[in-house]
Amino acid sequence: MERIICLVIGYICGLFQTGYIIGKVHKTDIREHGSGNAGTTNAFRTFGKKAGALTLLGDCLKCVIAIVIVRMIYGRSMSNILPLLTLYGAFGCILGHNFPISMNFRGGKGIAASVGMILAFDWRIFIVCAAIFFVLFFATHYVSLCSLSAYAAALIMVIVFGSMGSYGMDHSHTIELYIVMAAMTAMAFYRHRANIGRLLHGTESKVFLNSKNKK
Ligand code: G3P
Repeated sequence: MERIICLVIGYICGLFQTGYIIGKVHKTDIREHGSGNAGTTNAFRTFGKKAGALTLLGDCLKCVIAIVIVRMIYGRSMSNILPLLTLYGAFGCILGHNFPISMNFRGGKGIAASVGMILAFDWRIFIVCAAIFFVLFFATHYVSLCSLSAYAAALIMVIVFGSMGSYGMDHSHTIELYIVMAAMTAMAFYRHRANIGRLLHGTESKVFLNSKNKK
């Protein structure tokens, strides 16, 4: 039951769609522009640097908020499985971001929210993922490739190093934590399936920080 409550708390937080709201301020639906995604990259591509930064911040923060709420509710009573419950909260948030009921289930791809999750869980994994992201970004300018590579790396690090605060949990709960993290990674790849197709065909749009971006 606690897991479902955490998923629901996260899902509600995930419904706050920063990129969509910024689009509305510009009197447009971000999903009708660029890649059609309601996330950071497309906000940057469509509305510029400031909008991209705000979307990253807002979507990142909502996942941190979901995690904080779960910790406040279960921090004492369920401290033995708190890392697992907070991961369910983050999972719910990313589900709410990707499939928002308030937007006909057409949301984003969950990368900025995942940044918030990794940041809240383990700063060491965050630093390695950020390094992978930026090295690949400056080498290729394909944000989708950078996002997926960092996501896969996070999953590997969580499993290999037994991290994400899983110390102290019994074995079965640790395995469950890895399974949830693997499901989130699979969802990220699923949400990027069109990007993966374009990457394979060499038609994915590149993102540049200081010049006009191809839509
Ligand atoms: O964060 C999403 C990014 O990985 C790809 O975004 O708009 O290029 O599909 P987009």
